[in-house]
Amino acid sequence: MRKAYDIGFGQSEQELVIDELPLSGTLPKWVEGTLLRNGPGTFNPGEQDLRHWFDGLAMLHKFTFRDGKVSYANKFLQCDAYSQAKEQGKIAYSEFATDPCYTLFDRVKEVFSPGFTDSAKVNIGKLHGQFVALGEPSLQVEFDPETLESVGVFAYDDKVKNHVTTVHPHADRDTIFNLTTRFGRVSSYRFMKLEKEQPHQLVSRQKVKQPAYIHSFGMSPNYLILTEYPFVVNPLSILFHAKPFIENYRWKPERGTRIFIFNRHTGELVKQTVTDPFFAFHHVNAFERQGELIFDMVVYPDPDIIDAFYLDRIRAEEKKLPGGELRRFRLDPGGGGEVAAETLCDEGVELPRFDYDSLNMDGSYRYVYSIGVDRAKKNSFYDQIVKSDLQTGKAKIWKEENSFPGEPVFLPNPDGKKEDDGVNLSIVLDEANGSSFLLVLDSSDFSEIARATIPQPVLFGYHGSFYKTI
Ligand code: CO
Repeated sequence: MRKAYDIGFGQSEQELVIDELPLSGTLPKWVEGTLLRNGPGTFNPGEQDLRHWFDGLAMLHKFTFRDGKVSYANKFLQCDAYSQAKEQGKIAYSEFATDPCYTLFDRVKEVFSPGFTDSAKVNIGKLHGQFVALGEPSLQVEFDPETLESVGVFAYDDKVKNHVTTVHPHADRDTIFNLTTRFGRVSSYRFMKLEKEQPHQLVSRQKVKQPAYIHSFGMSPNYLILTEYPFVVNPLSILFHAKPFIENYRWKPERGTRIFIFNRHTGELVKQTVTDPFFAFHHVNAFERQGELIFDMVVYPDPDIIDAFYLDRIRAEEKKLPGGELRRFRLDPGGGGEVAAETLCDEGVELPRFDYDSLNMDGSYRYVYSIGVDRAKKNSFYDQIVKSDLQTGKAKIWKEENSFPGEPVFLPNPDGKKEDDGVNLSIVLDEANGSSFLLVLDSSDFSEIARATIPQPVLFGYHGSFYKTI
């Protein structure tokens, strides 16, 4: 049996187009539409292997649910990083934790032109009708959701070329918000606003000497929440490209985590405070209640989770993957006082999802769906799906021997009466069979409704979304 860590962090065998995947179980009639996912398509693009889970070259996956059947297609994101890797058999751009093999001459040439990857691999967004593959360098790739072919590039912030953005924009009706970081002599965080057919607008700007690595932000009805972990970089080392992108960052816990709260209607900084040091990738939800601003995150005591995603550490199986803690923060945005924090649920989780379309910025939300790590097992990667109940602190778990699930996208039943009346969709790597399947779980009791088998392994991916129409 080939190890899951090898087949999940190797190379996609083929680009497929399959009209109907073998399906066990019966799909509910209301499950109609398309699941689009993004993630790595290869970690071995040539003579030099990629080193980290966030390094792989982007591949798009598409599952279409129609008349109780599931079709599937996958395709490498057509971008310069991919075509150069294909043509030259080597890495041509800097990925998250891997640089191309530079000669000294190349290094001199690269100064002020770091050549961040255009392989936008982390998420999918539908931004004012355009489907976009989202990556952390600010160049994003628009694609055709029917064919998965690239259409062109898309930028959040024309002034922040070659710098970074989050891959988790927030939407409030027709307005999309995102956070970019600009590195320079004067570095800054920049909240951007995209309204339909309008040029991008700057909402707020916060100067910063040593920017943090920030993967997401929070948004409530009135506020934008910037959580600045003490995992920071000297901007010159990014500009001079001393090391692969993430290896320029340093953990400085003595700084604490700084929290900046902006009024998102006026852009004004309304509060700046500091709390205990922690690291996080993901905000979950944020809302306001009786004047208090409340936001939930998946947090870690330090950024060791980034090191835990180096492939040699995963494959060595020496250390268990750290599980993120679902933590709630409360503060008074208009006044003084400390930041209060409490743990919502005991399970170690990551890649959190909830019913965003109905309950984003709504404090009545109760369930968070995520992947997690089974404490009883030795696995150095995610091996279960977790439903956390924020009211009771209890969790429901789906797990299966030798199975490694991905982000469980939640799809609500349009006629459902309860928040968890719906399904979760997760691509699961099946080590025993050397392939993957799309698991359809009943979100209410976490029982299996159906599974559609893909005839090859799907590499461990990141984020995706379900669209009723594309
Ligand atoms: Co993310």
